[in-house]
Amino acid sequence: MSKKTVAIICGGRSSEHEISCLSAGGVLAGLDRSLYDPVLIGITKTGNWVLLPNDYPLAIINGALPTVDERATPLVADVHGFAVNGKALHIDVVFPALHGPFGEDGTIQGFFEIANIAYVGSGVMASAAAMDKSFSKTIFAAAGMAVAPGIVVTGESWKAMITDISYPVFVKPARGGSSRGTHKVKSGAGLEAALKDAFTFDRKVMIESAVVGREIECAVLESNGSVQASVVGEIIIDSRFEFYDFEAKYLDNATTVKVPADIPAAASEQIRDSAVAAFKALGCSGLARVDFFYTDKGEVVINEINTMPGFTGTSMYPKLMAATGVGYSALINALISTALARTNGVLGN
Ligand SMILES: Nc1ncnc2c1ncn2[C@@H]1O[C@H](COP(=O)(O)OP(=O)(O)O)[C@@H](O)[C@H]1O
Ligand SMILES: [Mg+2]
Repeated sequence: MSKKTVAIICGGRSSEHEISCLSAGGVLAGLDRSLYDPVLIGITKTGNWVLLPNDYPLAIINGALPTVDERATPLVADVHGFAVNGKALHIDVVFPALHGPFGEDGTIQGFFEIANIAYVGSGVMASAAAMDKSFSKTIFAAAGMAVAPGIVVTGESWKAMITDISYPVFVKPARGGSSRGTHKVKSGAGLEAALKDAFTFDRKVMIESAVVGREIECAVLESNGSVQASVVGEIIIDSRFEFYDFEAKYLDNATTVKVPADIPAAASEQIRDSAVAAFKALGCSGLARVDFFYTDKGEVVINEINTMPGFTGTSMYPKLMAATGVGYSALINALISTALARTNGVLGN
């Protein structure tokens, strides 16, 4: 078999630009070079597409997160595919290591469909539904899963939409990520400021009852035509944090991860089954990390699904898959094979 060229795309216009660069750095390092030749494509914060050298720095250096340099070689991406300096760039499959809006929300997937480019991960519909928590929650509930009760408010009309709220609540952008714009609000006094900040990320915001429980995550992988759940893992957050906020997610030593999670086998089985059910209910493809709360009463509440979860070698998704017997390079191979074999197209499974 001749080698395939894999374009790893990183950066993007979302607030998770830097995290995407870290994920792409992982994929680039983990890519099996006996099977694939990598091409690194960056999307700058302003939305310009560029070609990056394969040794472009994609790690944290002296505490600074990587970004895509606006001055890199311009790349044209259009309905005919990719070109640099007027010359077509041959790509067999794309690994969009992009998180958040314009990368994980179906928009770039729509571009790949129009340009007839194979890509790793979910299609347009599943990506969009997963990114928008107001839609994904509705689908989870319809599939019989417990979700946090709550309401959806919009920038213009939130005052009229709020009747009575029992605190504490979580306020979060409907299409956010990395906990940006997310607040735990303990009384009415803090609501307006929390909403104001959440609205800087999205005009649609969720107000949800705070679920008291442990945070348990499950990785789902579609490989060789079947969908499998990983063992489940727990995110254990240092007690100085109120919840799994941005700092808790990305500061060193702020959280520990326990894989497998120390919960009863029956709960773990329920979470694994729900993770696969959530993946299928949304019509996902390739991969997803499904995040749950496990309450003191033993209830399983689904929180969200991420169709392009953090993907560095030490991120939760690859860790969960490794604990299930699929190492990092094998995982990347499986995802690329699934992408190349995929025929379900724009509407998902
Ligand atoms: N309803 C809720 N109850 C309890 N904690 C919540 C709730 N919603 C969000 N959180 C906390 O905020 C974090 C981020 O919220 P999440 O919905 O996962 O958004 P993101 O897409 O930014 O990860 C969660 O991991 C959890 O710690
Ligand atoms: Mg989350």
